[in-house]
This record gives sequence, C-alpha cells and structure tokens, in this order.
Amino acid sequence: MSPHETAHPDAPYGFETLAIHAGQDPDPLTGAVVVPISLASTFAQQAVGVHQGFEYSRSGNPTRAALETCLAALEGAAHGLAFASGLAAEDAVLHLLHPGDHLIIPLDAYGGTFRLIDQVYGAMGITYSAVDLTDLDAVAAACLPTTKLIWVETPSNPLLNVFDIAVLAGVAHERGATLVVDNTFATPYLQRPLRLGADVVVHSATKYLGGHSDVVGGFVAVDDPTLAERIGFYQNAVGGVPSPFDCYLVLRGAKTLPVRMDRHLSNAAAVVDLLVGHPGVERVLYPGLADHPGHDIARRQMTGFGGMVSFIVRGGEPAALAVAARTRLFTLAESLGAVESLIEHPHRMTHASVAGSPLAVDPGLIRLSVGLETTADLLADLTQALDAA
Ligand SMILES: Cc1ncc(COP(=O)(O)O)c(C=O)c1O
Repeated sequence: MSPHETAHPDAPYGFETLAIHAGQDPDPLTGAVVVPISLASTFAQQAVGVHQGFEYSRSGNPTRAALETCLAALEGAAHGLAFASGLAAEDAVLHLLHPGDHLIIPLDAYGGTFRLIDQVYGAMGITYSAVDLTDLDAVAAACLPTTKLIWVETPSNPLLNVFDIAVLAGVAHERGATLVVDNTFATPYLQRPLRLGADVVVHSATKYLGGHSDVVGGFVAVDDPTLAERIGFYQNAVGGVPSPFDCYLVLRGAKTLPVRMDRHLSNAAAVVDLLVGHPGVERVLYPGLADHPGHDIARRQMTGFGGMVSFIVRGGEPAALAVAARTRLFTLAESLGAVESLIEHPHRMTHASVAGSPLAVDPGLIRLSVGLETTADLLADLTQALDAA
C-alpha cells in the first residue's frame, strides 16, 4: 500500500473512532500513542529503490501519511492528499485542466478560489462560466463541449448557499466532467460529498479540520485511483506540501472534530435565534432556517447545518462596519472554523478579491464563525454590538 492509500470507507469503525485512530496506530518503534513528527527530509534505502515506503519528504512523509490516512477515512475516501494550504490543494486539482478547457464555477465562493481560477488559470487559457448552481437549466446552458469540471462549494462562503451535490454530480457525469466539492464549511462530520457522487473533495484544513487557528493546510480526497495518481503527481511535482509539524497540528485538531462540531452547531443555532429576532438585522443566511432556499437540500445531504452564520445588517455598509468594530468576544479577523468566535466583513476582507466580478458580495453582509465559548457570552456580545450600531 502506498502512503496515500487507506482502508476503504466502510471501515468497521464510527467517525469519532476514525478521527482518533485512523492512520494513528501506536509507533511500532517506541509505542508512542501520538504520531511522531518525522522531520527527516530523506530516508535511507537498503539498496537502490528498496526502502520502507519513504524516499524524500516532498514525495511522502510518515507524519503526512498518517494525516492523509486519517482525513481520507473521515471523508470515506480511498485516497487522501495533504497540502500546504487549501489553495495549494485547489491548485493541484485545477492542474487536471489544460489550456482550452472550460469549467463551471458558482456565483458564490471563497474569493481566493475565484482569484486562482480567474487570474492564474485564466492566464493559462482556461476559461470559466460563473453560474447559479441552483438553476440547472443555467448550468446545462453554460456547459460547453470543452467543459471538464464543475466546482461546487456547499455551504458556500460567504452566503451559505447550499447546492445539490448528487444532482450536480449527475450533470457533470453526463458530460464526462469531474465534480469537485469544497467541503471546508461542512467538514466530513456533516457532509460526505464522495458518497453523494462527487469525484473530488477539497478542504482548507486551516479551518475546522485544524480547528485552533494555528496552522494553514489543505486536503484532497478522492476514490478514483487514476484521479489520486494524477493529483498525487502534482502534489509531488509542484511541491505544495505541508511540513511534518503542520501535519501533526491538523492531525491533533482532527481528533476532536466531532465534539467541536457538535458545540459549533449548538452555539450557531443560538446565535441564529438571536439574529432572527433582532431589529437591526435585515436577513439571516443560515441553511438551518426553514426559509433558506437550500434548507431541504441541506436536510438531505448534511447531518447538521454548520457553525457559520451570515447576516445582512439594516443600514448597509456603515452599520455592518460598526457592528464588526463593536464586538469584543467575536474577534474581527479573517478565517473561520476554530475554537474562538470570529466576525468579518466579506466585502472588504475575505472577498475583496471578487469586487466588481459576478461573485461580488453585499457590503452590508457580516460573516460569523461561531466558536465554542459559553453560549450566553456570545449572545451578550452580539446583542451589545447590534444594539449600539
Ligand atoms: C471555503 C474555502 N475554501 C478554500 C479556502 C482556501 O484555504 P487556505 O486559506 O487554507 O489556502 C478558504 C479560505 O478561507 C475557504 O474559506
């Protein structure tokens, strides 16, 4: 078995057990119950080409292999590949495309994903159409004979739109295209895109998988061995790999993913209740709300609605900036998915790179990453900020 292969998905263990044990057997040399951080850049060979599975750390590293095995198990995937950042993971997937190819992207996605596709791959002769992925006629109309890939982010950043993975997988496969799902917001605890028909799952492991705002990382999960080999080729050939220490941090974070997610969900539900009833809030965007356009799909394809909450403040951008400046526990910062609660203004912060594009966001929008603090403290903080604004 190569370091990227794992036992297949329907392993006899539950999610929590896999988070703690998959790829993490006690160290055979010392019995250490925590996977060692293997800093070696190179590995001794008994004879030319004869080794214990590792040659050179960019190509494969024991700590990275443990992380890849664990996260692949959580996604129910046959193969996992870890990267230095979410964007490095996305870049390795986008390398599947060639000049002249076309892809479909959502109208709502992480700004950096859009920038990568628009400015980096666009300059290499790869074209895209930004389409409302809830409108299947629009998706079908946007498909060209050169369409090779459909990119989905669900729930999306920052509008928390929900897209039907199984339906979009059908649309992609009818045309021989690949369906990629960015599962960063949901995490495999709440949603397993490969089981719904997706071909590739990507993650910013910087977010919920790491979970503590102390590491930048990315991950790709696939079932198909050919895709695994091709993306694995780019992982090694381009070299956007994570350090062993970063792999250790994500692996440590992943152990508590299920319990953290449970608390993210309950705190987010309380925050949504508060926002829905507050006169300073024009609209709350959260897939758990019955009037959210993607609510029924979310109920079908997710086991919880997530810890991210977006809302539009009455009074537009000045009011949104005032709320973002007034919270004390919700730290004003980019990123998401960690233990501490964060607040941000997508128009000027995470999504500044989509200004003027079809993916531009409402300047009155605020995005919250609801953390694990005491629920009442979070509610009190938001209330004082909204009341003052
Ligand atoms: C949904 C989503 N995908 C991908 C990324 C990129 O990940 P990274 O910042 O780890 O490169 C982000 C970053 O915010 C994100 O929110």
